Amino acid sequence: MQQQSSKRPVMTDALSLLKTRRSIKPIALSAPGPTAAEIDTLLTVASRVPDHGKLTPWRFIVFEGDARLKAGEAIASIFEAERPDATADQIAFERNRLARAPLVIAVVSRAGVHAKIPEWEQIMSAGAATTSLVIAAHALGYAANWLTEWYAYDRRVLDALGLAPEERIAGFVHIGRSDKPPEDRPRPPLTEIVSRFGETKADNTR
Ligand SMILES: Cc1cc2nc3c(=O)[nH]c(=O)nc-3n(C[C@H](O)[C@H](O)[C@H](O)COP(=O)(O)O)c2cc1C
Repeated sequence: MQQQSSKRPVMTDALSLLKTRRSIKPIALSAPGPTAAEIDTLLTVASRVPDHGKLTPWRFIVFEGDARLKAGEAIASIFEAERPDATADQIAFERNRLARAPLVIAVVSRAGVHAKIPEWEQIMSAGAATTSLVIAAHALGYAANWLTEWYAYDRRVLDALGLAPEERIAGFVHIGRSDKPPEDRPRPPLTEIVSRFGETKADNTR
């Protein structure tokens, strides 16, 4: 493991990397965020995921610096239009949605009907891209949080962010530094989620 100044340690061992990934709340993700070269690495890793039919059924939008607040303006104004009773604090919170972390990368699903490749598989590929992005951030010593929140599902927000009508948000990945080592949360016991075909011991049905 290499030690880097105020960043979490860079993981060189793939399994410990995967075993220690944890989400950190966006408000706890501080600057400075990844450098331009690191963002390139994040996007390169995120874009080399399994992709049936090589359709590239996803793309990325990078929100950095003032652009985060510009996008936040759109989120806040749609929020305000929907909630005329909203307080100034609530509107300010919405304006800051994409500015809580120094870097936000939106993973956009471009899944659609295709002659051979089911849409479901294209959607899963966007999920894989988002997962790889989160893991790559962890590998670079940053913390991340994969969020959708309400604005990922509001068509007016998506239009304002430049998504085509058939595009959807797989996630807004918030990335930054976190000084506090994360506490893990309970993970599902393997006995509850794994069955061995041909054995009848465990009841895995819900
Ligand atoms: C598609 C997707 C969307 C998510 N959206 C949110 C969200 O809007 N708000 C939230 O608190 N967590 C959201 N999460 C969950 C967090 O990313 C995170 O997985 C969760 O807090 C558990 O922490 P962990 O990643 O450390 O296991 C989402 C996860 C996925 C896969």
